Amino acid sequence: FAFTPANLEWAEGQISKYPEGRQASAIIPLLWRAQEQEGWLTRKAIETVADMLGMAYIRALEVATFYFMFQLQPVGSVAHVQICGTTSCMICGAEDLIRVCKEKIAPKAHQLSADGRFSWEEVECLGACANAPMAQIGKDYYEDLTAEVLSNLIDRFSAGEVPVPGPQNGRYASEPL
Ligand code: FES
Repeated sequence: FAFTPANLEWAEGQISKYPEGRQASAIIPLLWRAQEQEGWLTRKAIETVADMLGMAYIRALEVATFYFMFQLQPVGSVAHVQICGTTSCMICGAEDLIRVCKEKIAPKAHQLSADGRFSWEEVECLGACANAPMAQIGKDYYEDLTAEVLSNLIDRFSAGEVPVPGPQNGRYASEPL
């Protein structure tokens, strides 16, 4: 792994924001940029970032494995679906959403779909509990889901659409100003 020249310049700019000896503070933006470049974080990418920041590989790996925003294996080329399985979402039907993922994408979390276009996993609370159950698809939140709605969303992504994120039942936590 190597950053592209543009990403390398950007990464060096991030590192320069921190005082001498504190370069490790740039770990999250650098891991994120590496993932944006490659689609997921390879071991080599994490090693490269750790070396740039003067960190031990294990410390960089600790960060990469802590956050669900980082993917340590290949994800679907169209979308990676993250189903929240924590309490509010679990009570409101997360298991139905996981069943849809198993049927439509792959039987197991982190497996690619047969065409390599989708993948899924169960994650911990994503902070949208008021609109449970919910999923993050790509970088957006889709909330107030049902199995049928999620299935339809996956079909629309598959057809090349980018459905409007947010509550999928017309409900908003507060009235727009
Ligand atoms: Fe699912 Fe918080 S419990 S978003």
